Amino acid sequence: MQIGYEWNLSGKEIQMKPYYQNESVTLYHGDCLEVLPELGVFDLLLTDPPYGLPKDSSNGRGKLKNRSFNAGNIQIWDIAPDGITLSLLMKSAVQHIIWGGNYFELPPCRCFVVWDKCQPWDNFSKCEYAWTSIVKPAKLFKLDTRSYKKIHPTQKPIQLMEYCIEKVADKETVTVFDPFAGSGTTGVACMNLKRKCILVEMEERYCEIAANRLQSTEKELSEKLFY
Ligand SMILES: C[S@@+](CC[C@H](N)C(=O)[O-])C[C@H]1O[C@@H](n2cnc3c(N)ncnc32)[C@H](O)[C@@H]1O
Repeated sequence: MQIGYEWNLSGKEIQMKPYYQNESVTLYHGDCLEVLPELGVFDLLLTDPPYGLPKDSSNGRGKLKNRSFNAGNIQIWDIAPDGITLSLLMKSAVQHIIWGGNYFELPPCRCFVVWDKCQPWDNFSKCEYAWTSIVKPAKLFKLDTRSYKKIHPTQKPIQLMEYCIEKVADKETVTVFDPFAGSGTTGVACMNLKRKCILVEMEERYCEIAANRLQSTEKELSEKLFY
């Protein structure tokens, strides 16, 4: 597959210029629905859409007040995609893994994924749920939510996205689409696993964070190659 500025699966020229691009990942800054018609069909939609946090959701007290979750002015972008948007996005891929799937109207599924966050506080979620369209037994992934640094308020661990690509999706998965990219975790996972990925993020400050992460990953991977 040819990778370059023209990379997409539809063979059409994409009007929007990438915000950042490397061999594996292309990041667009914009509304995912704007870019969507110009893309082709991916092997996997792996995403973590905003789901519209309830107004009374807990913000924590004491030390927890300063978590990046509370500092991120989350309300601005936390608008859940409607059913039409979600079904358009789902048409863009053969397999689907949607984090926060419990917040959306989706069909029954066999292979749901639970992330056990191994955290002790009862006023925060102990686990998160992904809906998938994949036909396999359900999966459980354990990783302490305190084990990685968050720069985006709802940032997922890289290992979780790697697990989704390697253990949940089909082995043949090569191309991945994340239309709600945030800090670019799906892109970093794709780089580590040598998959091709298109990311879209509408907030410029998160595009910048994602681009920096992707650039650092590129550097780390190329250093590994030489040492
Ligand atoms: C739940 S966060 C994703 C976090 C990501 N999984 C990570 O690890 O950083 C959802 C992201 O979708 C972005 N977003 C919301 N609506 C969007 C849209 N219509 N098009 C593109 N991005 C959108 C928000 O700005 C937010 O950063």
